[in-house]
Amino acid sequence: MNIEDFPMLKEDLVYLDNGATSLKPQCVIDKMTEYYEKYSANAHRGDYDISFKVDQEYEKTREEVRRFINARFKEEIVFTSGATESLNWIATYFFGKYLEAGDEVLITNSEHASNVLPWFRLSNKLGIVIKFIPLDDNHYVTVENIEKMLSPKTKVIALASITNVIGDARPIKEICKLAHENNIFVVMDGAQSVAHQKTDVQDLDVDFLAFSGHKMCGPTGIGVLYGKKELLEEMEPPNVGGGMNESFDSPQEVYYKDLPTRLEAGTPNIAGVIGLGEAIRYLENIGMEKIHEYEKKLRNYALQELLVLPHIDLINIESDSGIIAFNVDGIFSQDVAYYLNKYKVCVRAGNHCAKNLKAETGVQNSLRISLYFYNTEEDIDNLVELLRNKDKILEEMI
Ligand code: ALA
Repeated sequence: MNIEDFPMLKEDLVYLDNGATSLKPQCVIDKMTEYYEKYSANAHRGDYDISFKVDQEYEKTREEVRRFINARFKEEIVFTSGATESLNWIATYFFGKYLEAGDEVLITNSEHASNVLPWFRLSNKLGIVIKFIPLDDNHYVTVENIEKMLSPKTKVIALASITNVIGDARPIKEICKLAHENNIFVVMDGAQSVAHQKTDVQDLDVDFLAFSGHKMCGPTGIGVLYGKKELLEEMEPPNVGGGMNESFDSPQEVYYKDLPTRLEAGTPNIAGVIGLGEAIRYLENIGMEKIHEYEKKLRNYALQELLVLPHIDLINIESDSGIIAFNVDGIFSQDVAYYLNKYKVCVRAGNHCAKNLKAETGVQNSLRISLYFYNTEEDIDNLVELLRNKDKILEEMI
């Protein structure tokens, strides 16, 4: 649906790599161009009309993000460069202060590197212990398996709400309930979920959430860190500098502003924020429920078509999202991706930044298709037709 909104879809392109980044609708491109052409002043600094306009657009987006994820307060929305930066900030500048040697953080083998490496770094720095929640036979997380991992030392559970290769949706609400009964914080990596389904941070009761603008029709270089207000108030500012301080007379007399400004030092990515606001309005206009339902149907169609090809090894027959990972039997995934590229079919190949996943699936590399609402059954048909004949792939991939 809405194909006509996307300039890149006017070309003969089958874009099936939305887990990496989404395409941008014309309205987002226009909104950012409007900022650069008509009012490209700085934010929160000027006393003239075009800078007031920037402030208004910038803070309007913050309010829109708040509403989009149903946060309680606007102050709980901090703009970052993306989910990676948000997760790094949460681990380093909140938990870096809070955790002590021996404290335990629970993650899984199917997390993206951005939800593994910040914790590994903290482990090396503070002596915290990173533990891996066992996954079930379908590579899913269960509340029961988490419960078995809990100890008095468990302080954080950090999980993607939807993983980027298996595409499983985690029971985040139940996990938060269990965690909070045990005084454990929950960090949710929403990079693969926020763009695809309704997220309600109050209903889930997550403590922190990270997501990126570019996977949800917005620009690159902009993301969101959500944290409960009382927690963000304890976060050390990742950067200090202009915009975030009240006064600084000496090293002993430094005063920072209140949230969220104290966590947004320097000139922010203004065009990115404004573009993100437009992307949210665009998605809401379609409706997150409608997007979610459409993707589920398209995924089922893709699965049904791929399952009849005997040389396709599916890695995640079970999945709750538009992500399907597979291999063509006996052919290196990247070679298949190059072959598909000859026909303007874009898929991702490799380990997808989830390098620990091979310990679960036994598969090092795979092909991944990741769907969005502008994909069609015709896109799937084109893909499946190209994959139908293994000999053709072998002949043409060189
Ligand atoms: N995290 C992105 C992906 O999974 C880049 O492809």
